[in-house]
Amino acid sequence: MCGIFGYVGSREDAGSLVIKGLKKLEYRGYDSWGVAVQTNAHIEVSKDVGRISGVDHEQFKHSSGLAIAHSRWATHGGVTKQNAHPHLSEDGKIAVVHNGIIENYLELKKMLQKKGHTFKSETDTEVIPHLIQDLKKDGMTLEDAVRAACQMFTGRYGILVLDTETHALVAARTGSPLIVGVGEGEYFIASDIPAFLEQTRIVNYLDDGEMVCLESNKAIFRSIETGKEIQKRKIEIAWKVEDTEKGEYEHYMLKEIMDQKESIIRAVHQDEEQIMTLAKAIKDCVGCILSACGTAGKACMAADYFFSIIAKRHVNFVPSSEFKIYHHFLLPESLIVVVSQSGETADVLEAMKTAKEAGSKVLAIVNVEGSSVARAADYTLLINAGPERAVASTKALTGQMAVLMLIAYAVAGKLNEGRMALLEAGAKINDMLNPRYIDHIKGIAEVLHHHKDMYIIGKSWNYPMALESAIKIQEVSYIHAQGFAAGELKHGPIALIEEGTPCIALMGNDEVTADMLSNIMELKARGATIIAVSPERHEIFDHWIKVPDAGPAQPIVNIIPIQILSYYLAVLKGKDPDMPRNLAKSVTVK
Ligand code: AGP
Repeated sequence: MCGIFGYVGSREDAGSLVIKGLKKLEYRGYDSWGVAVQTNAHIEVSKDVGRISGVDHEQFKHSSGLAIAHSRWATHGGVTKQNAHPHLSEDGKIAVVHNGIIENYLELKKMLQKKGHTFKSETDTEVIPHLIQDLKKDGMTLEDAVRAACQMFTGRYGILVLDTETHALVAARTGSPLIVGVGEGEYFIASDIPAFLEQTRIVNYLDDGEMVCLESNKAIFRSIETGKEIQKRKIEIAWKVEDTEKGEYEHYMLKEIMDQKESIIRAVHQDEEQIMTLAKAIKDCVGCILSACGTAGKACMAADYFFSIIAKRHVNFVPSSEFKIYHHFLLPESLIVVVSQSGETADVLEAMKTAKEAGSKVLAIVNVEGSSVARAADYTLLINAGPERAVASTKALTGQMAVLMLIAYAVAGKLNEGRMALLEAGAKINDMLNPRYIDHIKGIAEVLHHHKDMYIIGKSWNYPMALESAIKIQEVSYIHAQGFAAGELKHGPIALIEEGTPCIALMGNDEVTADMLSNIMELKARGATIIAVSPERHEIFDHWIKVPDAGPAQPIVNIIPIQILSYYLAVLKGKDPDMPRNLAKSVTVK
């Protein structure tokens, strides 16, 4: 959460440049925004509540080559102008933006207050510039003061510091991502690459426990612990600027849903040797646990079924936020498969840490190359979905499921069969996503968008998709939605059904179709309105969304109309599907 972007170099419009770049990171946090620009020996700070997207970057065209900016997702302190970053030191010469949480900030604040420092916000962040100023007064350089301050912090953070005296930026990271963009006589630093993709595709990743001092013509990386210089490898990013734009679409969410015409096929094109090595690792391990959060977690739950049905193999899913409790089971022979779109989710990184401490191996399935999860894993597979900007994850989910299904086929010794099934499903999705289809679903959204509650049922691999459908509907439309295993209804939730309650049923043409139809009948008998996502029409459906019969790829196909439905429920309710309230794209706090 929180977007960070800083610039040091020979350009004179650093202020407007960081505001423009920050707009590309708005998905990371959109409660409030702020910018600090060095002009002569002063720092000019502007901040406000609300979204950065509405801010005119032209007004920040000061003649300056040094600026930092931030878009916030509040953790400590409400959404107010005072709490927005950047925060300044007591003497106003140091500005800081921060992502993460300084857990011991109250202790540090008390210590600084005793020394005469006064605080203007309720944030944990504000202690950082005050502490750096305090350390600098003992004759430390900016770099040394930042390093010493970091050694005093507990928690997870990515910080970016601007200092009027040194004309440099210093950044440090423990847990929250920061990436340096390398230009000619200039450096960019951001919490995600799209901020500077128009300027450079050459990057240096800052790893946990590292810091960097950036001047226009040099970047010096060091270990926070030892202060020793670290040599960094320059990496060229494959993403194109167009991939990060929404093009002809009104929202990123719709664009990313439509991207699934190709993204699933891209996910399937994995290196055969690598897939076979991973399949062997799964076959040889003593216990394979899948772990992820939110939507990625639903991909893992679907994989439980893929492995069971296709590979006749037991794997377990544990939400990453619960993973630590499982350390009792972990062995050096265990294999942990983590799945993450962003590769920056704090709970996932924490689960990996737990696994590593037990000596277990970790396989990561991620979308963002070079992300923290990708770099910390023993093996990494990329789903190649392209940048996902909308907070609601869509194409990443189907890419994750495609890769997990492919691995299940490889474990079964049927990699080619799996590849063919997925390519066929990809082609069917391409046909399905036509304007008439989208309009049909929009029509159903028009009927449903005034309802306050919705229930979604599925069985077998459609059960995790029922849970995922509920996440999608809730997060973008704010309609109360709940997913259930269809057979569980009669054990309690059926009491919620009244005349006209919308119930969505996710179905395939498979061994559980007859059971699903019985469960739908039970709902219908209590007055529910049935919206079925299914390859076949049955007379008990009130609304039918036809999907191609896709065999084991059915959950991948079935979730797509629900993504479209969620999108239109949000739009019809006047909500912004790209930036839902209280959420942010990557959850880098625990
Ligand atoms: C998806 O729509 C959600 N916004 C959220 O559940 C997300 O999937 C989760 O936070 C995990 O993110 P990751 O895939 O980047 O790790």
